Amino acid sequence: MDLDPHTITLADITVPRTRIPEELHVGRELGKGANNKVCACEWEGERCVMRVPRRRSDTQQRGSAVWELRYTLRASQLRVGPTVRRVWYARHASRDWPSGLYMIMDRYDDDLETVLCEDHSAQQGAREHHALLERAICSCLERLAAERMFVFDLKPSNMVLRISDAGEVDVRIIDYGRDFCEWAGCLTDPSRATPHLDFLTRTLDANGDADYGVDAGADDGADDMRAAVVTHILFATMMMLLASTTTFALYDTRDRHRMDAETRKRINPVCHAAGRLLDSMQGRHVQLVRKLLRMDEVRGVLRHYHGRRNAGTHRTFEYARGHEVVA
Ligand SMILES: Nc1ncnc2c1ncn2[C@@H]1O[C@H](COP(=O)(O)OP(=O)(O)O)[C@@H](O)[C@H]1O
Ligand SMILES: [Mg+2]
Repeated sequence: MDLDPHTITLADITVPRTRIPEELHVGRELGKGANNKVCACEWEGERCVMRVPRRRSDTQQRGSAVWELRYTLRASQLRVGPTVRRVWYARHASRDWPSGLYMIMDRYDDDLETVLCEDHSAQQGAREHHALLERAICSCLERLAAERMFVFDLKPSNMVLRISDAGEVDVRIIDYGRDFCEWAGCLTDPSRATPHLDFLTRTLDANGDADYGVDAGADDGADDMRAAVVTHILFATMMMLLASTTTFALYDTRDRHRMDAETRKRINPVCHAAGRLLDSMQGRHVQLVRKLLRMDEVRGVLRHYHGRRNAGTHRTFEYARGHEVVA
C-alpha cells in the first residue's frame, strides 16, 4: 500500500463507518494500550494485527489521527515501524467498531515488555540473541534520528519483535501518538510544530561553533557537521529514554519475573549500549541531551513512567546505564 506520509490527508482514507472487509479475519485481542486495542487478524492470508481506536482516545480526534497516521506510515517506509498494509478513518462509530483511525499492519511475536518481564521462554531468546537485539534496537533509533523523527514515548511495550528459527532478530517501534512524536521531515504540512527539534537546531545555530564543536571555519562543512550533531543528539536522547524505561520496567516487575538485579541488568537489551554511548560522548553533547530530557513534554513522559522524584536527568542517566537507583 503506497500511501505517501508526506501528502496523505484524512480525507484520503475516511469512510462513514468501519465495515470489516471479507478478506479480513479478526481474531483475539493481543494487546491494549491507553489509546488503542490491538487484535490478531488474517489479511489476504498474512498474519497481521488490526489496531482499533479506544473510545475517547487520541486516534479518534482528526487533528491527532492525521499526524499519527503520517508518522506511522513514514516509520513503516523506514522499516522502523511494522509494515502498514491498510488504513482507514471511520467518521462515525458502528455497533461493534468505534470511530477513529484503524490500521492493519504486520504482526510481530511479542512486545519487548512481555519478552523481558513476563514470558520466561521468550526471555531465553532475548538472552541468547542479546547482541543482535541491541544492534536492531540501536539501528531503529539511528534511522529515526537521521530522518529527524523524534519519538519520546519509548518503552518496552512500544517495541515489538520476532526472532526467527534461524536466529534473525527483527525489532520494530510502534505507537507514534501525536503528542509524543515530532518529524521535521514532513515536506507538505509545516503546521505541525517541532519544538524539540527546533530547540536543538536553534541552540546549535546560536552558539554551535563555540559550545558544541561545530567548526564555523569550513562553511560548506559546517552544515554537515551541524546535521551530524543533531542526528547524534537525537539518537542519544532516544537511547537514554528507551534504556531508562527498560531498566525501570524490569525493576518494576521484579516480583513477577523474579530475576535478581544482576540478571535484570544482563538481560536489558539497551542499557549496555546506552552506557557505552554516554561514556563516549563529549560533555557538551551530553549537556544538550540533558536539555532535551528537561523539556516539559519529555520530562512529562519520564514523570508518568518513573514518578516525579525519579524523572531528573541524573536518575534518567543512571537508569539508562542499568543502575536501579529508585526513590
Ligand atoms: N504489530 C504488532 N504486532 C504484535 N503486537 C502488537 C503490534 N502492535 C501492537 N501490538 C500489541 O498491542 C499493544 C498496544 O499497541 P499500541 O500501538 O502501543 O497501543 P497504544 O497506543 O494504546 O499504546 C502493544 O503493547 C503490543 O503488545
Ligand atoms: Mg503503546
